[in-house]
Amino acid sequence: MATDTDRMVPVAFLDDLDETGQTVVQENGRAIALFHHEGEVYAVDNRCPHMGFPLTRGTVEEGMVTCHWHHARFELAEGDTLDPWADDVQTFPVNVRDGEVYLDPDPPSDVPATVRWRNRLADGLHENITLVMAKAVIGLDSADEGFHTPVETAVNFGTKYRAAGWGRGLTTLGCMATLYSQVGGRDKRRAMFTGVREVADDCAGEPPRFQQYAFDNRDLSKERLLSWFRDTVEVRDADGAERCLLTAVAALDPTDVADILFTAATDSLYLNAGHTLDFINTAFATLDHIGWAGDGDTEESNAAKVLASTVEQLTGATRSEELSSWRDPVDVAALCFDAADRLDDCVAAGEGRTWEEPDGFVDTLLSDDPEAIIDALTGAIREGATRTELADAVVRAATRRVAWFATNNEFNDWDTVHHTFSYANAVYEATKRTSTDALYRGCFDAAISVYLDRFLNSPRAPLPDPDESDRDPEAIRADLLDCFDQQGEVNRAASLVSEHFDAGGDPADLKCVMGRGLLREDADFHTLQNVTWGLERFDDATSDEERRLALIAPARYMAAHFPTRRSNEQTFSIATRLHRGERLHESE
Ligand code: FES
Repeated sequence: MATDTDRMVPVAFLDDLDETGQTVVQENGRAIALFHHEGEVYAVDNRCPHMGFPLTRGTVEEGMVTCHWHHARFELAEGDTLDPWADDVQTFPVNVRDGEVYLDPDPPSDVPATVRWRNRLADGLHENITLVMAKAVIGLDSADEGFHTPVETAVNFGTKYRAAGWGRGLTTLGCMATLYSQVGGRDKRRAMFTGVREVADDCAGEPPRFQQYAFDNRDLSKERLLSWFRDTVEVRDADGAERCLLTAVAALDPTDVADILFTAATDSLYLNAGHTLDFINTAFATLDHIGWAGDGDTEESNAAKVLASTVEQLTGATRSEELSSWRDPVDVAALCFDAADRLDDCVAAGEGRTWEEPDGFVDTLLSDDPEAIIDALTGAIREGATRTELADAVVRAATRRVAWFATNNEFNDWDTVHHTFSYANAVYEATKRTSTDALYRGCFDAAISVYLDRFLNSPRAPLPDPDESDRDPEAIRADLLDCFDQQGEVNRAASLVSEHFDAGGDPADLKCVMGRGLLREDADFHTLQNVTWGLERFDDATSDEERRLALIAPARYMAAHFPTRRSNEQTFSIATRLHRGERLHESE
């Protein structure tokens, strides 16, 4: 270990150390353990790197110190551990002169903090150890690498170590990258911890993924690649589809690549209960966060890794036209395909026109007449409705299905209304990154899914009307957090959110508190998504009613699913206290 003799300070007499075999000295506010063992003096940080137990209370044998709390073992000279979950312990250079022990209390590190914590995050991902990941996320954040490095590290890991490719874990990561900007303070660290943790969990025990290669021919047109990609997806040829897509990534610009993927993802209906397009959209959103190119060459670019990993779930997806619920008693799949067949004519008719959304349009989407729903959508396109405008209307309908979800339903049906909302929201977000009219088809099947969910609003849950309140918004937010501490406070959560608007509270504060309420729980994938997309929807909503609904819907969802055991919060709290140097064990 490199050291400078000028920094060496006397800390103990060798005779005294020889007598006891060990002692603790304080230097620069740190407790350093000295061990006299097998004729040598060793100095190590006295706080066990795992959870802070004093190593001088451990056992020294055969060049190792074993911590007595969880029995992690550390080699004394360089601090390497046999137990990666515990991390290596820091050591300090020592020499003995004239019967006195000297040590360097501040040796320069060979590895910058950002590199060290990034490596530890990779270790935590590989071993699926939540405490290691929490420590690494906190370490990176304190080194001002709070966002980009955790996301990119987890993307590199997640796209490589799951044969099935992009799934729940990476989608949660992308979701948390979006939530990051909506929450404050330490909740940003919690968001990153949640994202990387879910990637590790999703990959644990899975075989790795081997990426295909782009074609050598880079002169292929978008139209040709689109045609090949759709054909290969249609026959569920994952390898062929991946090669086409990688070639598109190498040869085309990002908007053209998005057009290709979203077109194929809407050739069939509501794939995998909406997850497929939702995952693809989140994959693009994640690329917005970490950059299209990354550090790799074309084949190893972020876009290549991320987008290629979405192909397996696209080709393998369940197509809703295969489901009886989309065929009987009304063949709603046929309605969607018929509308898609008329799409070119509708778009041509709407060319140059500006759509004014008619009163009651969203009510029509919430009706129990699927033909009227499809007619309303195609009519809107003929009148010039853009993809984004139409998708926005469908998301507003889907938001109401969540906000109006009746608690007398089967509990798992919260997922049903969430799937529709999440899918509709993904179609809406995708319209911002593509130029393809194919996304109108996403509006058709999202609206039909809203229709199929109609019995889950029977009866509709009562929603609070706008009113006046002179209560302190801060007290209302505190009540909302308390409300999430109790089971079944679904309607109360809606009332508190509404009251926060009535009292003129700052919605940004309300969103932060909802984020805090979410991130302290062991929230499942769907809840994490539902809240994040709700907060995001708030930002795009254009009326007071829609802004209220955007937050009421996830607040009800949260209240239905909380409280949980909060075991991940316990891990995060331990990592935070260790980072601060706090005592965790009575014996310390
Ligand atoms: S092994 Fe030392 S505190 Fe856990």
